[in-house]
Order: sequence, then structure tokens, then C-alpha cells
Amino acid sequence: MQAEQEQIRAALLESDLEAKLMAVGALPVVVAAQNWVALPTPDLPGRPAHLRLVAPRDVPRRRNLGSPAGRFALLHALAHIEFNAINLALDAACAFPGLPDAYYADWLQVAKEEAAHFAALRALLREMGGDYGDLPAHDGLWEMALETADDPVKRMALVPRVLEARGLDATPGIRARLQALGDRQADAVLAVIEREEVGHVAVGSYWFRWLCNERGLDPEQHFFALLDRHYRGRPGGDFAVAARLAAGFSEWELQTLRARAAGEVASG
Ligand SMILES: [Fe+2]
Ligand SMILES: [Fe+2]
Repeated sequence: MQAEQEQIRAALLESDLEAKLMAVGALPVVVAAQNWVALPTPDLPGRPAHLRLVAPRDVPRRRNLGSPAGRFALLHALAHIEFNAINLALDAACAFPGLPDAYYADWLQVAKEEAAHFAALRALLREMGGDYGDLPAHDGLWEMALETADDPVKRMALVPRVLEARGLDATPGIRARLQALGDRQADAVLAVIEREEVGHVAVGSYWFRWLCNERGLDPEQHFFALLDRHYRGRPGGDFAVAARLAAGFSEWELQTLRARAAGEVASG
């Protein structure tokens, strides 16, 4: 049924916040994808028209988390990441025909969880008298979708196993800061996100390995080959080891990532 693929695509392109959350909620959890066709990743996914996208250096800083403005800026930045994650999951679910039905079910489940993450953060912004879209946001988060639009093995490696995995690394530090401030409400939202994101990275790991297997590729070697080819960011430093192991990283991959991060520090 191509109608389901079109329905996912329509949710991806929807710009209105309420309509988009409704559209994601209405998506099926199981699909029969045998007759799906290639639908190219859009240059721009649907996002609120009034959201101002700026270079990362022009995104408002959030050093003083203890002030209302600092808290709002942090929650807004996190909401933007989750909003983008909805679009990334929807695109993963409709851009790559020819995979097992379980692949699409997994990414539809991820999209629904991302929508819940976004809605929970947005609720905190609204409690503070604002909303998502009030601050400028990072303009670069869709680039990796376009960079990996031609091949699901690239997408699985670079989006869940790099971008979402970096989220696993970053969340404990953010939670510690919120806990130090006694911000139980925001910390509780991040606790749910932290737990569910392990599942998203695990979905990426599973399908990355599955695709490598199909093509006779060594998944560990191929992961780093793709990282070299497509990721220009820093490999990171503080890895959330337990979370990454639970999310399907091998000991060897973690050791290699750590060695690369150390090498990068040494070479400045
Ligand atoms: Fe999320
Ligand atoms: Fe996620």
C-alpha cells in the first residue's frame, strides 16, 4: 500500500506544529511496504514558517541555566533537536524502499517517540510563557539527512549511530546540571528521552548491521569508512559507554572511537 508511504511523506512535509504532531500520531505502527517507491529526501522538511534558522554560533547561549532565559534557551535548543529528529525518523521510514517491513515499523515507532519528546519539551516552553519558534535555532541539522539520502546504510551509520549517539553522550551532563539546580521537571523529561534514545540508536545499529550483512560488508570496518567519508565533526570525547553498548556499539567500535578522540586532542 503506497498510501501509507504517502502518509508518512505528508507528515514529513507538514510545517504546522499541531498538524504535524497529529499526523505522526495517526501514522500506522505496522506497514506492508512491498510496493513502495523511491521518494527522495526533501531539501527542506516541514518546519514552522516563523522558526528562524541561523548558523550554530548565532544560536542563543545557555551558560546560565539557573536563569529563566538560560533554561528557556536550553529547552528550546533541545526541542529543536527533537523536532528535527521527528523529521529524520519520518524520512528514514519513507525514503528507502525495498527493506523488510520491520525496518519501517521500527522507524515509525521512533518517529512517534520523537514526537512525544518534542511535545514534552514544548510543554515546558509553554509553561514558561513561550513556545518553540521563539528563538533562532541551529540551521545545520538536516544536512546529514541530505548527505546520506542515497543509501540507507549511510543513513543508519551517520544519523542514529553518530548524531543520536552523540545525544546519548551529551544527556548525562545536561541532566547533572539540571539536577544541581533542582529542576526536577526538566530532568524528568530528559530521563525519558535518555532511555528511549538508547532504543533509537539500537534500531540504527540493528539495521546498519543487517544492511552490511546483505552486502557482504564488515560492519565495524564499514562504519569507520563511512565516518571518514561523511562526518566532519569531532568524534567526541566523553562517551556514554554503557548506553552505547546497550545501543549496539561493539567494544572494538568504542575503543576505536576513544582512540580517535584522544588522537584528535593530541594533534590539537
Ligand atoms: Fe528524541
Ligand atoms: Fe531519537
